[in-house]
Amino acid sequence: MVSSENNTFSPSQPNSSPETDQNMHIHDQMDDPRHLLEALRWQVDMGVDEAIMDTTDHLNPSSSDTSADTSTVKPSDKTPASQPANQSPNTTEAQSVSHSTLPDVSTCQTLEELRHAAEKYDGSDLKRTATQIVFADGNPASDIMFIGEAPGADEDRQGKPFVGVSGQLLNRMLSSIHMPREEIYITNTILWRPPGNRTPTTQETAQFMPILRRHIQLIAPKMLVCLGGAAAKAVLATDQGILKLRGQWHEYDAGDGHILPVMPTLHPAYLLRSPQQKALAWKDFQYIAKKMQEFRA
Ligand code: URA
Repeated sequence: MVSSENNTFSPSQPNSSPETDQNMHIHDQMDDPRHLLEALRWQVDMGVDEAIMDTTDHLNPSSSDTSADTSTVKPSDKTPASQPANQSPNTTEAQSVSHSTLPDVSTCQTLEELRHAAEKYDGSDLKRTATQIVFADGNPASDIMFIGEAPGADEDRQGKPFVGVSGQLLNRMLSSIHMPREEIYITNTILWRPPGNRTPTTQETAQFMPILRRHIQLIAPKMLVCLGGAAAKAVLATDQGILKLRGQWHEYDAGDGHILPVMPTLHPAYLLRSPQQKALAWKDFQYIAKKMQEFRA
């Protein structure tokens, strides 16, 4: 059974029991109303605030999507029936979005200007349903910039990225490599919360790319970390899944003469749902720590 203890990040915990054993165990338990109640409580703890199915099939591990390509789905995410959970922004399609709907932020010289331009940008319907923009958090002078997918309910309320349960796990992941959260800079591909935490569409991702691009140029970090498949696909302009991309350094052409190393890794929300995968993220974070040391040497 998934418990709040999954909100930890240490190399010794993730693989304590093989996934299959764990699933069999859960199968047996799922008939028990107490365990269903616990499963429901877990979902509430994770921020679920809306039912999207009439049945509890989604609480059954056999029906859950084990693909890491859905890794960016936040614990409180709900995917509309018309859109498969594993539908990720496709940059090739994204590039076909009309230029007239894109924000023009190339002239923004400061973060304040960029934030202002992003706030004023009316081309995205997400602005109409969100409470406020979730622009960024952390140290703008940081050498490392983390990029997530989109704000969730907690982020929408507080106006800062990664402040909910995913953010808490991220903070632990950072602590594990002695990198305080305050030392990093963090933003999302999408700056307004998609209603009901649904997966952002290809068009929405494309609309926010010019802002992200300028954001990266203004921060001028030495490296990027993409949290989850959606951010990795958007930044690296690829259709490859996160399990293929993670664990290796890629390159991002910032368009200003800088080529930045990029480490795609698993999204904390995915790790909360699939704690057995924490070992992979642990490895990625070791690569990140090593690269930071190289930069500092
Ligand atoms: N998930 C994200 O991708 N970004 C956030 O800010 C919070 C959860």
